[in-house]
Amino acid sequence: MPELTFLGHACFLLSETGQETLLFDPYISENPLAPVKLEEVKADYILISHGHWDHLGDAYEIAERSGAMIVSSSEIAKKAAADGLKAHAQHLGGRSLHPFGSVKLTVAFHGAGIEGGHACGFVVDYYGRKIYFAGDTGLFSDMKLIGELDPLDVALLPIGDNFTMGIDDAAIAASFLQAKVVIPYHYNTWPLIEADPEEFKRKAEKKTGSSVVILEPGKSFKF
Ligand code: NI
Ligand code: MN
Repeated sequence: MPELTFLGHACFLLSETGQETLLFDPYISENPLAPVKLEEVKADYILISHGHWDHLGDAYEIAERSGAMIVSSSEIAKKAAADGLKAHAQHLGGRSLHPFGSVKLTVAFHGAGIEGGHACGFVVDYYGRKIYFAGDTGLFSDMKLIGELDPLDVALLPIGDNFTMGIDDAAIAASFLQAKVVIPYHYNTWPLIEADPEEFKRKAEKKTGSSVVILEPGKSFKF
């Protein structure tokens, strides 16, 4: 059974016993709420949504140590390759195939954090399960299309406001996506993005047929 572990902020680890491990936006060494030590984190693939420091974070150090492949937009992947890392470049709307399944880059409305780039989200097919990781983004109505094209087992949504969607917009996003399960992130790391995940759960579950699962940093969800 695939397992999704929340490592705090926007960092998730997607794993299954004996299979390839995917890490999203590893911001660990400087994250005040990180539930693990950086040295403990390993991955086969590291998916980077954009170049802001709370997302690119510790990707280089983990990739160097564990030989992981960076999967990201062209600008970030090409820079990683030039810096000596394994990297796979793709761009918005494109899907790449991997031994575990596939990765499609989705639009995210946010800064790129790197010159000439674009922030993105991901739809991942992980051994037959579909997961959407929105990245840092505001609400946009094409999220409806994301859920239609790839019926989602899990949608991961930022709720902390200020830099991304807040609770009310994220509840609308959940209603667009129609995932079986929604898990919030990008909140309570700092005072500026304080948000009550229970309030999000109430509002999103009222608007959708989705169940909202709140993960404390370090906790996992199997699906
Ligand atoms: Ni950002
Ligand atoms: Mn961020």
